[in-house]
Amino acid sequence: MAYKYYIAERVREVMPEYKGTDEELQDAIDDISLLYNSAIKELETKLQVLSDDFEKTHAHMPIHHIQSRLKTFESILEKAIRYGIEDPINNLDEVRREILDIAGIRVVCNYEEDLYTMSNLLLNQEDIDLVRMKDYCNKPKESGYRSLHVVVAVPVYLVNRKKIVPVELQFRSVAMDTWASLEHELRYKNKGELSEDILKELKECAQALDDVDKRMMKVRHEVLKEENKYSNY
Ligand code: GTP
Ligand code: MG
Repeated sequence: MAYKYYIAERVREVMPEYKGTDEELQDAIDDISLLYNSAIKELETKLQVLSDDFEKTHAHMPIHHIQSRLKTFESILEKAIRYGIEDPINNLDEVRREILDIAGIRVVCNYEEDLYTMSNLLLNQEDIDLVRMKDYCNKPKESGYRSLHVVVAVPVYLVNRKKIVPVELQFRSVAMDTWASLEHELRYKNKGELSEDILKELKECAQALDDVDKRMMKVRHEVLKEENKYSNY
């Protein structure tokens, strides 16, 4: 089997209702991967530039690290079905309109206030449009999960056309990211089922980390105040 059509063949196994040829399906998969990977690259560069300039102008690096991922074609289809899209494989345009996290970027920041600094700086750019914002930082989820989720639309310029591509950004502090990774791993290990006691404990851990985030921010501001006092002499 030619490697090029390996994914197409696998998809056809789970979705035999697909009407097109393997070549057409592979073409659609390649299209998605080129577009969304390009959108990720553009946004990663924008974020890095902003963080570098912020360090130059404010002597503080807001971003700790960035992680990106593209959803696999199989999980895009699986989510589309979960979202009630009928026959997703023959309706890829609808899938791309409805599934906003095909491309995902996790922006892990040093301080909680950096989440808002970075997201605002990005949203102020004229070629970036806000599609949706969910502030789980000010209003945590029932699990205790905190993060600022922002879906933006970014233009990608191809040889003979321009495409507007949605990308989901998750802005988190280091503490929020630590909690989310550990909680995700625990949930995954237990196939999503955790006891009430464990859930309560995890929520308390999230609250403790929130407290640390806020205290660290306060410490930072006190240090900045001291610095300013000395720089006046
Ligand atoms: P889905 O992506 O289908 O879940 O729907 P949605 O985009 O409306 O959901 P949401 O805004 O909750 O964001 C989902 C993403 O946020 C997930 O893929 C995770 O990365 C993250 N997330 C949300 N809730 C939790 C949580 O309780 N624990 C962890 N570890 N991550 C979470
Ligand atoms: Mg999502």
